[in-house]
Amino acid sequence: MSEPTRFDLPSNRIPTAWQNLLPVMAQAGVPPLPPLHPGTREPVTPDLLAPLFPEALILQEVSTDEWIDVPGEVLDVYRLWRPSPLHRATRLERALDTPARIYFKYEGVSPAGSHKPNTAVAQAFYNKQVGVRRISTETGAGQWGSSLAMACSFFDLECLVFMVKASYEQKPYRRIFMETFGAEVRPSPTSTTNAGKSILEAHPDSTGSLGIAISEAIEIAATDGDTNYSIGSCLNHVLLHQSVIGLEAKEQMEVAGEVPDVVVGCVGGGSNYGGLAYPFMAGRLRGETPDMRFLATEPAACPTLTKGRFAYDFGDTAQLTPLLPMYTLGHDFVPAPVHAGGLRYHGDSPSLSLLVRSGHMEAAAYTQNEVFEAAVLFAKAQGIVPAPESAHAIRGAINEAIAAREAGRERVILIGLSGHGHFDMQAYDDYLNGRLPEVEFDPADQEAALAGLPDVPIA
Ligand SMILES: Cc1ncc(COP(=O)(O)O)c(C=O)c1O
Repeated sequence: MSEPTRFDLPSNRIPTAWQNLLPVMAQAGVPPLPPLHPGTREPVTPDLLAPLFPEALILQEVSTDEWIDVPGEVLDVYRLWRPSPLHRATRLERALDTPARIYFKYEGVSPAGSHKPNTAVAQAFYNKQVGVRRISTETGAGQWGSSLAMACSFFDLECLVFMVKASYEQKPYRRIFMETFGAEVRPSPTSTTNAGKSILEAHPDSTGSLGIAISEAIEIAATDGDTNYSIGSCLNHVLLHQSVIGLEAKEQMEVAGEVPDVVVGCVGGGSNYGGLAYPFMAGRLRGETPDMRFLATEPAACPTLTKGRFAYDFGDTAQLTPLLPMYTLGHDFVPAPVHAGGLRYHGDSPSLSLLVRSGHMEAAAYTQNEVFEAAVLFAKAQGIVPAPESAHAIRGAINEAIAAREAGRERVILIGLSGHGHFDMQAYDDYLNGRLPEVEFDPADQEAALAGLPDVPIA
């Protein structure tokens, strides 16, 4: 009989509690650093966040509990697609002629096509609970906006999305997807906010960035009493909600009788990779699996973890957020408009940044053509056309599998396949026709952007 290649969990195995890695990190000697108030430089107090987020999410943001219950209403929606499947990529293994065994956890089965609904549904639920009318947000590739639009429609909330202009123009169908769920979508920078207007005055042709779109969405929430803000990545509560990915994957790897040697994922703000990796990372930090490796991948055009500085910086361009301790390319940095729109973020999750800084996680950056070469190889082997963001993880995993072949050693590789690329055909067309520019990161831009970092000492 052929070996099994798919490891499904029954629907009653959806995790009923999210796992918070922060207390585990603290116990392991990697305590989180607090976000700071930009004016006082003192740790942020919950009241500063109250105009933007419901109390339940603020409490999750600062929680020191390892386990937090998933509300029944959220579980009811998760049941539409969770548990997501874990596959063994035997056809890819054969194509690479590698002794490595490659597994991937596939989040592209969600209705919006990525991992993003795992937190969108939770955030919409908590906002509805406190009577909010509308949620504003940013979106890069459109995956997050699509997910929040869907979640808002489930909980009968209005949704306003600032979509990075480069993606708005590259991906009209993502806009239509959001509009189908009743969301209003604006190409950012817009002239409807002060943050957008000031960018357009200085750069009338701006293609936008996640940092700018975040500023616009926050400004609306801060100035409109019944609009709250929702963020698709980076913050602790978002990574917390995404832990369902890794909790399921751990159980599925056990069913497969395997323990990963290396867990690979792509990092924009860190939510899909944190979601997959942290339940495994807890084992490394507790000394149960001390040799398990973790590889975070990112675009060479926006190499936050590999070329950024670990520093306190704003999460957005207009300096509206608290100062976050993270790897950053500077809040003014506008990455080149590469096709992996969801990875065009100047910063990263503070907890994930700390794990890289403390040596528990490795990071690597790849160029667009390296990434799409891997994406096409994967599609031809496994039949799934990955999102350009997810294809970074595939590139990393393929490199690991090739290294295993060259060393003549078995290796178990687990990939986070965060989404499908069905709305990214333009990117594939550009790659297949040799039109994908090899955009490199310009150190001069980095110098200029880092020069604008606030001068806050970091331990
Ligand atoms: C499919 C997909 N993967 C990954 C990302 C990167 O975000 P994060 O690092 O929060 O997972 C995005 C962001 O839009 C995405 O759409």
